[in-house]
Amino acid sequence: MTERTLSIIKPDAVAKGVIGKIIDCFAENGLKIAAMKMIHMSKREAEGFYAVHKERPFFASLTDFMISGPAVIMVLSGENAISKNRELMGATNPAEAAEGTLRKRFATDIEKNAVHGSDAPETARTEISYFFPELEIVNE
Ligand code: CMP
Repeated sequence: MTERTLSIIKPDAVAKGVIGKIIDCFAENGLKIAAMKMIHMSKREAEGFYAVHKERPFFASLTDFMISGPAVIMVLSGENAISKNRELMGATNPAEAAEGTLRKRFATDIEKNAVHGSDAPETARTEISYFFPELEIVNE
């Protein structure tokens, strides 16, 4: 089933200059870019995006990190895009991420973990519409 998922190349990975390598990984694994932009989020935008985590002890630090520099926001589309993207990313904590995954290759720690990907169809819909109106997403 063709699905859409939201992907973010976080500020740590943008600063490391690995946007191209991450996009190559998606392309090599059958995930197409259906929308893409680079933005430098405001604190309010980062807090809104991560609202489900607002009670967590790491919320303030996480949202500070997300506004520390520009991030690349993408809609990826493809067969089982949500789970495929999560496989390519690896575990949230890079110390636990499998060899060859994006987080193993590029993350710094559990917070500065290079990439974000939606975890389920409902979250994917909410996260995509948080950043992209339907008109900015291609259907091919
Ligand atoms: P992400 O997949 O974007 O979803 C929530 C983010 O919170 C996660 O990646 C990490 O960047 C961050 N995060 C999750 N757990 C922790 C933690 N224990 N300490 C700090 N940051 C965390």
